[in-house]
Amino acid sequence: MSEVNAYLPGQRDRARYMRLDVARVLKRFHFCERALIIAQAGWIAGIAPLEIKITLPRHLWEDALTAGELRNRVFELRYPSRLLEPGDDSPVIALFDEAIQAPGALAFVLALARVYKPVLLEAYRAYLDIADVIADGPTVRFLRAAVEDKEHQLHDLAGFATELLKAASADEQATAYDWVTALQQSFDRVGSLGIEGPHDAGEPLTAPLHQPFQFAEVPARDPRFSLCRFYWPNVIDPNFAYGEGILLQLRSAVSHVNEVWAIETGGAILNAFANVLDWEFTLDAARWTYDEARHTLMGYERLTGWGFTPDEIPLGTYIFDSARGEPAIIRMGMLHYFETKNIGKKTDRAEAFASYHDDVSQHDMEFDWADETIHAHYGAKWLKVLQQKFPDLPDSDAIHERCDALVNALIETATDEDRRQIYAIAEKMIAKAQRTLEAVS
Ligand SMILES: [Fe+2]
Ligand SMILES: [Fe+2]
Repeated sequence: MSEVNAYLPGQRDRARYMRLDVARVLKRFHFCERALIIAQAGWIAGIAPLEIKITLPRHLWEDALTAGELRNRVFELRYPSRLLEPGDDSPVIALFDEAIQAPGALAFVLALARVYKPVLLEAYRAYLDIADVIADGPTVRFLRAAVEDKEHQLHDLAGFATELLKAASADEQATAYDWVTALQQSFDRVGSLGIEGPHDAGEPLTAPLHQPFQFAEVPARDPRFSLCRFYWPNVIDPNFAYGEGILLQLRSAVSHVNEVWAIETGGAILNAFANVLDWEFTLDAARWTYDEARHTLMGYERLTGWGFTPDEIPLGTYIFDSARGEPAIIRMGMLHYFETKNIGKKTDRAEAFASYHDDVSQHDMEFDWADETIHAHYGAKWLKVLQQKFPDLPDSDAIHERCDALVNALIETATDEDRRQIYAIAEKMIAKAQRTLEAVS
């Protein structure tokens, strides 16, 4: 009997790729996702349209869940190794690292819509086509979810790209198209994200076009809104009551929509500390940023549901502005401190809304409260980790005092024009709310 016939046959399709072959592919996917998460977080402050500011955080949170699953799976498949390095996958990971250096917001979003997310979607579909659902079932489960996420994301991004292209100048459009073309050609040269691995094709073709990333210390804001520094009179005038009844309903919804500063700050700290802290930080910061985006959307949805249009809604910048030029740990302090210091009032306000039969404000306030309890933990945890890592950093109390001082100093700069502007916006909103009330009663 020949050697070949000495054993039962084992050549089956599902055995084509071995444990370490697929581990390398999954490791590559993790690094690609990670680069895009950091890029999306960094760009949030620099992109004006509110829909994009609210939606990108959901995308990056979904991406972070996928990247986390990928990372865990690589560790399982390569046990006991906990080593996770770009290695031979550097040529393709370098192309994902280019995302953040897009020459402008339009180029950034267009590249997500036309290159990066489609490349990942195609790679995940290709992986699922060859994956052995028996041996590698856990990967199949989360990559199927990732495919669904990417399909939704691409639908969102196609709409955003169209809107941004419409609003862009011919020069901005040309820059964005050149960027996307250079990226596509670079991916063609480097090869797919598939099992065979990338080739080293030298410097990406985007190199002459990219711009070193700079965080938008002056945030881009949606011009359809009533743009201001202080988003309600009581911020700069202690005589203007937070209020009860419709005043409380409006103030609370305006506060929620004004959590845009918190979205931008969540993105800022994820971007600043992702390469300094452990992966768990990126996962927490992604969720933190997504939660703030949901809080903003809560306010926007309530206000538009009461008939307000964007031009009637104030969007302020003062807390974000207070940290301008400060180290990123101050932005983390701002997010931790100003978002959680009123946590105790949220349950009182939810009760007040219940007594007004304002179910939606109560509902949003209760869910917001649950999120804030998580955020209080995130802030305490990561400020402490940073302080342990960098003993020269101030402690949490000193950071919070500094945040208070910075915000108070900014409030001191309020001008008569700021006061006139926000009183006019608020009075118009209150008058409209009263007219709505009269119409229904
Ligand atoms: Fe919030
Ligand atoms: Fe928060």
